[in-house]
Amino acid sequence: AVLKRPAPEDTVTASFGKFISEVKPQHLSSVVLHRSKRMVLDSIGVGVIGSTTDVFELALQHCQHMYAPDDISSVYGRRGTRLSPTLAAFVNGVATHSMDFDDTWHPATHPSGAVLPAVLALSDMMSANSKPSGLDFLLAFNIGVEIQGRLMRFSNEANNIPKRFHPPSVVGTMGSAAACARLLSLDPSQCSHALAIATSLSGAPMANAATQSKPLHIGNASRLGLEAALLASRGLEASSLVLDAVTGVAGFNAFYEDYVPQPLELPNDDSHMFLLEEQDMAFKRFPAHLGMHWVADAAASVHKILVGFGPGTVSPAQVQDILLRVPKSKYINRPFPGSEYEARHSFQFNACSALLDGEVTVQSFTPAALRRPDLLALLSRVRMEHPQDNPANFNSMYGEVQVTLVGGDILKGHCDTFYGHWRNPLTNESLRKKFRNNAGAVLPSEKVERLIDVVEELDRLGDFSYTISICLSLLPVLTNTEICQNILI
Ligand SMILES: *[C@@H]1O[C@H](CO)[C@@H](O)[C@H](O)[C@H]1NC(C)=O
Ligand SMILES: *[C@@H]1O[C@H](CO)[C@@H](O)[C@H](O)[C@H]1NC(C)=O
Repeated sequence: AVLKRPAPEDTVTASFGKFISEVKPQHLSSVVLHRSKRMVLDSIGVGVIGSTTDVFELALQHCQHMYAPDDISSVYGRRGTRLSPTLAAFVNGVATHSMDFDDTWHPATHPSGAVLPAVLALSDMMSANSKPSGLDFLLAFNIGVEIQGRLMRFSNEANNIPKRFHPPSVVGTMGSAAACARLLSLDPSQCSHALAIATSLSGAPMANAATQSKPLHIGNASRLGLEAALLASRGLEASSLVLDAVTGVAGFNAFYEDYVPQPLELPNDDSHMFLLEEQDMAFKRFPAHLGMHWVADAAASVHKILVGFGPGTVSPAQVQDILLRVPKSKYINRPFPGSEYEARHSFQFNACSALLDGEVTVQSFTPAALRRPDLLALLSRVRMEHPQDNPANFNSMYGEVQVTLVGGDILKGHCDTFYGHWRNPLTNESLRKKFRNNAGAVLPSEKVERLIDVVEELDRLGDFSYTISICLSLLPVLTNTEICQNILI
């Protein structure tokens, strides 16, 4: 049915444009500042370690061969390599999602990876006198995160683990466009057009999840959102009703069957309206799909009991049967994963790895670890059940692992909320430890420590031009700024 057309200034699309353009740094509460800085730090860490992956190397070579000439933006983990801003946003987005190690929100998407590379690349291309302060940068980042959360709340379908489109390729592109539009100080109408242009560049199918192409979804979201904002800044226009679903032809509602949009209000001074205030972020402890974290923790608790019994290791010879009680979701049900990408999306693999080793780590996904005979033996004993009360939803799912031993004893592990979930956030120390492991895989430790300090100070750094373009993006460019001197690699 075609609904009544609202007046131009009353559209949902216009309200989003106004929000992006007019929201103020004072609207970021201390909770939002703190949580978003944790996201920035974690996202840099997973991006830096992601620069060691094959998919990142392929994406980088592609960009260097195709588009090397206007190279002004820096690349995670590659001293001296520069690309055009949109391609730097692309490869850094690929790095961030290359191991599926980046943050996850509810309704489910990976918000930082689509936004941070774009605002970093855009900061690099801005002239010295227009570069953002640390607070402006964090505001743009938060706008990019907020827009993603708001759009996902317009659909009930979006609450569940997705079946059609990979959310970062949908709301991620919109978030990147919003953040970049704000960093470019576009007016409300241009901000709406940036979102409308980004809608035309959104959408990638779930079939490419668990393949080497999934990281491209975030790389492209980051890049295409930046391009949408740059095009809008040149005056390019698109549908003024793209978010409203009132024209009878699909706009953003093309991505969701049950899309019901609401205008986005500007915050008033005493209400904390950023969604990050009410909904904290999940940070992963190991590089796999978020759903794996429940079943891995449940299996790790069984591992603990098992090693308590016997020789201190778990042997498949002890185990008769492994029953997993997990949500029904096709793309993360993979009995015998054939690649690291499939392994990162396999309940069975992550449960058996944690059962065998007591934990899942970066090393669990190496080719050698994937081929271990003990692991394959355990995998052959796995059965799955999908209880009615265990929905494919990151806010309400659980993971249960029931191991029947040879001899008949039954051991059970259950996890409702893994450590790192938004209900049970990583401590600041754990988050830093993750960052040290990730960034430290590529950078010397003193640079890692300086990055931790820089992000901690982000909202208080007035002249942020060098800090962003040189420190965070790790460029080996000389600078007179003290804080950056020590970060050069
Ligand atoms: C990124 O998206 C653009 C536009 O949708 C598409 O043409 C391009 O092939 C994509 N590139 C990659 C590497 O995914
Ligand atoms: C981390 O530190 C901040 C202050 O810097 C504090 O407000 C917060 O509660 C700490 N813990 C977490 C999990 O954020």
